[in-house]
Amino acid sequence: MSAQIIPVDPFDYVVFGGTGDLAERKLLPALYLRMKDEQFSAPSRIIGASRSAMSTQEYQAFAKQALAKFVDISYQDNEAIAAFLECLDYVQVDAKSDAGWAELEALLANNNNQIAAYYLAVGPSLFGDIAERLHRFNMVHDNARIVVEKPIGRDLKSAQALNDDIGRYFKEEQVFRIDHYLGKETVQNLMALRFANALFEPLWNSAHIDHVQITVAESIGVGGRGDYYNRAGAMRDMVQNHLLQLLCLVAMEPPASDDADAVRDEKLKILRALKPIDSNNFEQMTVRGQYVAGASSSEGAVPSYIDEITDEQSTTETFVAIKTEIENWRWAGVPFYLRTGKRMPMRASEIVITFKPIPHSIFDKNAGKPISNRLVIRLQPNEGVKQWIMIKDPGPGGMRLRHVPLDMSFADSFEMRAPDAYERLLMDVIRGNQTLFMRRDEVVAAWKWVDPILEAWVESATSPNQYTSGTAGPASAIALIERDGRSWHDVSEF
Ligand code: BG6
Repeated sequence: MSAQIIPVDPFDYVVFGGTGDLAERKLLPALYLRMKDEQFSAPSRIIGASRSAMSTQEYQAFAKQALAKFVDISYQDNEAIAAFLECLDYVQVDAKSDAGWAELEALLANNNNQIAAYYLAVGPSLFGDIAERLHRFNMVHDNARIVVEKPIGRDLKSAQALNDDIGRYFKEEQVFRIDHYLGKETVQNLMALRFANALFEPLWNSAHIDHVQITVAESIGVGGRGDYYNRAGAMRDMVQNHLLQLLCLVAMEPPASDDADAVRDEKLKILRALKPIDSNNFEQMTVRGQYVAGASSSEGAVPSYIDEITDEQSTTETFVAIKTEIENWRWAGVPFYLRTGKRMPMRASEIVITFKPIPHSIFDKNAGKPISNRLVIRLQPNEGVKQWIMIKDPGPGGMRLRHVPLDMSFADSFEMRAPDAYERLLMDVIRGNQTLFMRRDEVVAAWKWVDPILEAWVESATSPNQYTSGTAGPASAIALIERDGRSWHDVSEF
């Protein structure tokens, strides 16, 4: 089966930080793939903007090597690449001064009819300056959109300030806050699974679900992002955004439609219903970890976090496990266990819904004990869904029960390339569809829940528990769930 491509209106994408890592690894490759699939309408342009002195030809050369490096070889097509490079322009601008802004304004030629998307692939400290200059240089109009990347702040107060800086010049309908997890194919599939099937929704509540696990495990360390990461840590980098967004999609009430605000209203209710964790209960509900030297499946022997970032005193967490609950009628009493970490055994993200055990087994003990049904939604790698059920072991020899998966691997079923999250999100910006973007009040609600946890950790003056690189986190994270008579799903098992 192949995907249906609906072209978007002509646009000018201005990528601030156009020569940076995100542009190189994700944005330019994603835009190329969308163009190759004929999703662009002429005349569309991509304008790199950054402080580096560079000609348009040099920017095209930069983009060409980015595609060579980050687009799968089977999608590198000389003709398509040449056409893509033709769409590129470059302007040297300084976010902190007026240098280059008149040139950018001239390039956009005051064309208010064309969609203009300003992608801020730069640090949050520049958001305010860029938004203000876009306004002052007449580039904010009804067809303009601004796209910002996480982290949106490092706590509630700074997030509010950043949102104010942007909100001074752009209306909320023009602000696209990216959480790239929402663009992942399987994350969107979660909505289809829940709301396009009659099967699951009647069971999707505390009467039938025992608990939910959300795991985002990474095998990589902090690599070249040490400075940023050491200030952020896993809680701000992953939990405040990606994991909470996943939790919202699992737990929200069915929205009345897939309209952006209908969906985001429901997600917001979940964020506001999360059971608070603070200095009174953080020890029972959270675990922090930091990796020490060990082995990585792909890199062999790897150093400790503190050696990697060369900060012996660092108490930054590279792993977090949290037990939380959602205080509403649907979910009261159902634990949600979240965990994420760097230097875990493999890269694997999944959501596991474990149903309650059957009330009574009719089979004798030789048949084996029925195991609770489990729905495993695998976000990456090998995107797909497995519904684990009990069946009779085939063959003669009496009744023996066996736990098997009904297996649907999306890659195998659809014989198509799983698009990168950015491909979907970048085009949604042009379409003006905010469903997969975080609204301001969601960001605020997420920080309101996260801030007291971060504060409790700081006040406790304790350090994260150590775990060996290549393992599933500190022993205390295993205890967090095993205390409740449950265990973490083994991510290598999918
Ligand atoms: C980013 C985090 O948002 O997500 C990174 O800043 C993390 O630390 C990355 O590695 C994980 O994304 P993905 O798509 O590789 O799972």
